[in-house]
Amino acid sequence: MAAVTHVIDHPLVQHKLTVLRKKSTSTSKFRGILREIALLLCYEVTRDLRLTSTRIETPLQPMDAPTLDGKKLCFVSVLRAGNGLLEGMLDLVPSARVGHVGLYRDPDTLEAVEYYFKVPSHLDEREVIVVDPMLATGHSAAAAVARLKEAGAVHIRFVCLLAAPEGIASFHEAHPDVPIYTAAIDDGLNEKAYIVPGLGDAGDRMFGTK
Ligand code: URA
Repeated sequence: MAAVTHVIDHPLVQHKLTVLRKKSTSTSKFRGILREIALLLCYEVTRDLRLTSTRIETPLQPMDAPTLDGKKLCFVSVLRAGNGLLEGMLDLVPSARVGHVGLYRDPDTLEAVEYYFKVPSHLDEREVIVVDPMLATGHSAAAAVARLKEAGAVHIRFVCLLAAPEGIASFHEAHPDVPIYTAAIDDGLNEKAYIVPGLGDAGDRMFGTK
């Protein structure tokens, strides 16, 4: 299966991403803009959802009007930074179910270690959209998706803000069936596996930790 990466090059997304990248952007502004970008990313990642037709009555006459059909949406946040994207996605699709996967990066091996996993039932019947702002080495994203597949998920998409070419390659080696949606593909990783030029540590920037 051909692995697909979509770069969301909408001008509003690109402008807001630049604000997030700036080191002078405050925590509260970072959080607000991230929420706005997430809503726009959600708009793009859901662009091909199936529609059906429902008979309704407008104040003037009956009509067959489009409504969403098919699988229900489930957003899965990769903790903790995924929560920053989750809020904006829920602004757009408030009825979506939500799961959380907690992973930390082992500082020596840089491998993902799971510490929390809670997802809605019947994952196989849902369109699962995994959110994590930074696709750096790709290890946590790949581990989160592997765990979701183990729990029954079949239809999965991955949404991030920034991706490194290394992260895309390793993620797609593990999961060629899962399309990636990102606002930008950066140059690469530095020696600490941070995306460069990047925006720093997304979790620290959104929560004001260091
Ligand atoms: N996680 C982050 O928050 N930032 C990076 O650059 C890489 C991983």
